[in-house]
Amino acid sequence: MRFSSFLSAIALASLASADDAPESSDVLNLTKDNFSSTVNPEPLILVEFFAPWCGHCKALAPHYEEAATTLKDKDIKLAKVDCVDQADLCQTHGVQGYPALKIFRDGESTDYSGPRKADGIISYMLKQSLPAVSDVTASNLAEFQKADKLVVLAYVSSTTKAPAPEFSATADKLRDEFLFGITSDAAAIAAAGVTPPAIVVYRSFDEHVTEYPYPSSAATVPELEAWIQQLAIPILGEVNGETYALYATSPKPLAYLFLDPTDEKSEETIAVLKPVAAKYRSEINFVWIDATKFGEHAKALNLAEPKWPSFVIQKLEDQLKYPYDQNKPVEAEAISAMVGDYLAGKLLPKLKSQPIPESQNESVFTLVSEQFDEVVYDDSKDVFVEFYATWCGHCKRLKPIWDSLGDHFAEVKDKLVIAKMESTENDLPASAPFRISGFPTLKFKPAGSREFLEYNGDRELESLVAYVEEHAKNSLKPSVKTPEDDSQGTFVVASREDHDEL
Ligand SMILES: *[C@@H]1O[C@H](CO)[C@@H](O)[C@H](O)[C@H]1NC(C)=O
Ligand SMILES: *[C@@H]1O[C@H](CO)[C@@H](O)[C@H](O)[C@H]1NC(C)=O
Ligand SMILES: *[C@@H]1O[C@H](CO)[C@@H](O)[C@H](O)[C@H]1NC(C)=O
Repeated sequence: MRFSSFLSAIALASLASADDAPESSDVLNLTKDNFSSTVNPEPLILVEFFAPWCGHCKALAPHYEEAATTLKDKDIKLAKVDCVDQADLCQTHGVQGYPALKIFRDGESTDYSGPRKADGIISYMLKQSLPAVSDVTASNLAEFQKADKLVVLAYVSSTTKAPAPEFSATADKLRDEFLFGITSDAAAIAAAGVTPPAIVVYRSFDEHVTEYPYPSSAATVPELEAWIQQLAIPILGEVNGETYALYATSPKPLAYLFLDPTDEKSEETIAVLKPVAAKYRSEINFVWIDATKFGEHAKALNLAEPKWPSFVIQKLEDQLKYPYDQNKPVEAEAISAMVGDYLAGKLLPKLKSQPIPESQNESVFTLVSEQFDEVVYDDSKDVFVEFYATWCGHCKRLKPIWDSLGDHFAEVKDKLVIAKMESTENDLPASAPFRISGFPTLKFKPAGSREFLEYNGDRELESLVAYVEEHAKNSLKPSVKTPEDDSQGTFVVASREDHDEL
């Protein structure tokens, strides 16, 4: 089956290169004496600056070898420089970390920002070797249509009239990602069976041929770009380190199918869910993900058990997570119904929450997700919440001060809640009109209001007290020790001492 043959292919490739590398490498080995004479005459060459001890370099090696062998036929060279042996040469080229990959065109370098797997390197370098838009004719049409995972072809009667200029501008923008070609050759147009002007995407996955569905002569760069980017996302592709950016930059929610790729049934599960993914693809991106590698991610998405397959929808920008019941089988009909409910706004997110504390015996209220609405939206009270993470150093430094703030207002607890919420253990409910992007985050909600004010002042006790007194809607008769100048000094000293102990 696909997964295991894929894995063994990788294993074989790395074994083969480990054995064969010394004699039959297609990667050029450069030193200070032959670097310039080799690199400068090349219109396009990729150079890896590496260190023998570097783990990422070792991981790259078999892929680099494979890419060098394939690209040799296309007259694109790959070279490497050992920076332990050739320290001066590497310094001259500004190498700071390993591996450093640089593309040289006639001796001028730019950093290589492409993928680091063989297929990815090959595809990236091929695109670099071509003009942003290649001229295509009937003789190379069939080959060009299959030359990459996603190829865009414009069939036109004139290469200067619309949509050619917009098409070229789109190609300039996306040339690192996709392959673009244009043809005005009548035989090519006839072979493609289109009426010019037409813009067609050819893919090695999903539907193979897709024509731009609107009048292409009116297409603008943003329209073409959006259309192509949308087609670049497979109906149900794998998400991993290489593909994550594709999904993270999409405004759509992401639906994850967590799988154990070594499980024989996994491929079947993908096949079962693909029609569901196809049905909803205009609204949600669907992916499968290797649960054996990304188990932590499953936990972060509130999948309680390491049980696969599992399914969960996440809306990236509001951080809400909608896991499918892990006690139920992952089946097309049930998943489809769940996705439908989600899109109709009928599904409640699953919030991670610590248990509600049995007693609140500290001056600062311990807030958990389950109690968020009840406590924070209590209109009779002003509420000031610190959202923190246990590991966060700034939060540790704030703790004694926040405790003192609680103490300071202890006698008006019925009117003002000073609270803290551990945000890695407690999700913000959908009702909160903000998301946490850094720790600590301090939010004040005046009594009776639905507005959350963000506190951005300094984290000294007297500033926090002054802020509360300014923004509280309730009258806070601070019958408790009004801080005079001296006692303020004491507070600060006390908190510094606490800080030193941490
Ligand atoms: C590359 O060249 C250097 C210098 O001659 C040599 O020490 C090294 O073994 C060569 N490496 C390979 C992989 O051929
Ligand atoms: C560059 O010189 C080194 C050391 O003599 C040699 O091993 C290597 O093959 C040379 N590389 C090229 C591309 O000539
Ligand atoms: C506060 O309550 C917790 C249990 O909720 C208990 O473990 C702790 O001892 C109490 N502390 C004080 C000072 O009463």
